[in-house]
Amino acid sequence: MITRRAFLRLIGGSAFAMVSLSAYAVGIEPMLLTHVKRYTLTPPHWPAGLKLRVVALADIHSCRPWMTPERIAAFAQETNALQPDLIVLLGDYTAGTKLVTGRVRVEEWAEALSGLKAPLGVLSILGNHDWWTDFFAQRAEAGPTQSRKALEHVGIPVLENDVVRLEKDGHGFWIAGLADQLALLPNKAKGRDSFQGFDDLPGTLAKIQGSEPIILLAHEPDIFTKVPERVSLTLSGHTHGGQVRLFGYSPIVPSDYGNRFAYGHVVENDRNLIVSGGLGFSILPVRLGVRPEILQIDLG
Ligand SMILES: [Fe+2]
Repeated sequence: MITRRAFLRLIGGSAFAMVSLSAYAVGIEPMLLTHVKRYTLTPPHWPAGLKLRVVALADIHSCRPWMTPERIAAFAQETNALQPDLIVLLGDYTAGTKLVTGRVRVEEWAEALSGLKAPLGVLSILGNHDWWTDFFAQRAEAGPTQSRKALEHVGIPVLENDVVRLEKDGHGFWIAGLADQLALLPNKAKGRDSFQGFDDLPGTLAKIQGSEPIILLAHEPDIFTKVPERVSLTLSGHTHGGQVRLFGYSPIVPSDYGNRFAYGHVVENDRNLIVSGGLGFSILPVRLGVRPEILQIDLG
């Protein structure tokens, strides 16, 4: 954790241009230029007559001064104003950087999210930072994480390799939520050289009977290479679009596939993935060319 004064020193630069760019990328773009990113599509296996508006919030990464409970509550109101049928939360509620002036407790961000309202409800999944910031879950190598408990406490179900069947206008459809793919940190003492996920895609999809359409929620988009054609749409976050993205290219993407799944609508072999640029940030408090976004998807 750093003091406000140390933080201001950190972002200061010698050249005026550097100061201006820093101020934009550190202050203005991450804080002020939130927008609604809209997609309209009819994915495979989608029944005629089912019109569904899904609004997704990804990578909130609550922390002070960047992502306070007040700001999260404002996002909740903005989300409600879009009149979604269903709201989904795509993981990473906890801070992703140590460059903060204060923490936001899980109860605080969960309370802010409790203001979300939609006729078909609010569903959530967890992200890697929800695991990485949870000392007890790391030690136990098992959940429930603090994030999961906080979400459930405010009445938001958390899908970890689980599914929910919903209905609108006489049409049934499924929301499948994958457990996190990078949940456990490498730990030499426990003989773990790399991240370990709890994701079980085949087991999750096996819980679905019949042929009604499926929307899959998966925090990290890398699973997309394994998602069967049976799934109409996969929604992910995690990448933040690289946080810096210029001319459709992100130099740094936390994905094994580089820019392939960095941001936006990806169609491969008639399978659809939408990756949100998210709302907050991790590692460094910077965003450039990837404004914080609320994701609105109109299906039908
Ligand atoms: Fe993430």
